[in-house]
Amino acid sequence: MPYESIATEQTQLHEIAAQLLNPASDIAQLSAAANAFYDLCTVLSTWKVGESKATQLPSGKAISPEDAARCIQDFMRTAKFLQGLEAAIHDAQQRFPDTPLQILYAGCGPFAPLALAISTRFSPAEIQFTLLDIHPESLDNAQHLFQTFGLNDRVADFLLADAATFQWPELHPLHLVVTETMQCALDKEPQVAITQNLAPQLCEGGILVPENIRVEAILCIAAQEFLTEDDQKFRIPLGVLMNLNKTSASDSELNRAVVFKAPEQMAEQPHCLLFTTITVFGDLVLNEYESGLTYPKTVYELGRIQAGNVLEFRYQLDGAPGFRCRFLNNEN
Ligand SMILES: C[S@@+](CC[C@H](N)C(=O)[O-])C[C@H]1O[C@@H](n2cnc3c(N)ncnc32)[C@H](O)[C@@H]1O
Repeated sequence: MPYESIATEQTQLHEIAAQLLNPASDIAQLSAAANAFYDLCTVLSTWKVGESKATQLPSGKAISPEDAARCIQDFMRTAKFLQGLEAAIHDAQQRFPDTPLQILYAGCGPFAPLALAISTRFSPAEIQFTLLDIHPESLDNAQHLFQTFGLNDRVADFLLADAATFQWPELHPLHLVVTETMQCALDKEPQVAITQNLAPQLCEGGILVPENIRVEAILCIAAQEFLTEDDQKFRIPLGVLMNLNKTSASDSELNRAVVFKAPEQMAEQPHCLLFTTITVFGDLVLNEYESGLTYPKTVYELGRIQAGNVLEFRYQLDGAPGFRCRFLNNEN
């Protein structure tokens, strides 16, 4: 590629990163920047769209490189994760001064967007990413993009591995882990298993991004929930099913059963919906409806909930991870 063209693309990447990392950017600017990021990476990629497949792992589904690439376009997710990761790095720099931060990006996908954009903001003396994915074509492509943008001195290694079992070599302390390997309500993809494996490998004071993922059950009338303004929604919160964070990741009973009872009196027969809230870092929170990851998931298998129903939820950790639920006093 001619020098001028690469220089233009490097400039574009810097501008896109600046826009996504600017907390003052509005929705239209974030959306445009995320789409420009996707287009820029697509144009420069060697990997062929349409040729990739998902991989079923013992801990869940690793989505295909093509689907992983498209995650950039979930613009609020991309922006909040980037802003949260940048804030986490600043915090880690206070905790671990005078050393390059070792950052493991588990499930980087073919565009490694979080590492690529962040690498425009820090020097190689400040950050060293290890990029890890289960798909070789994603790693090859990520490596190609880092080289093309002249940022490969921010990457210590590209690793083909399963993040749910990978062991960080003891050579360097692991300061920060960032992983976004999830769908709403922690369904299907292995975010929980990956967090359980990697969070305990952080050095003392190390930082997990996202800092916390909360899933809670709320009884809702779907028509009102999805079609009306906030103040007209019918909601009865049942309670929190899981908080996934650095501390809870080491709790051997993270997937214990949680039981809730619907009120004895209900004017309506609602559905149960699972709401996900992602605290990326500090006050950078991905709230309900802001992203595909925080869109409420209707628990259709329970049908309509009746007054006094007792519901049990338990997170299943297997090849199809997610919350399983049942009635304990089944009158439905
Ligand atoms: C939802 S995509 C996110 C892509 C990218 N990090 C982003 O933020 O746009 C998840 C990525 O994690 C990878 N992945 C999922 N489970 C994995 C595992 N157990 N080990 C390694 N990679 C995994 C998938 O191959 C995919 O590239």
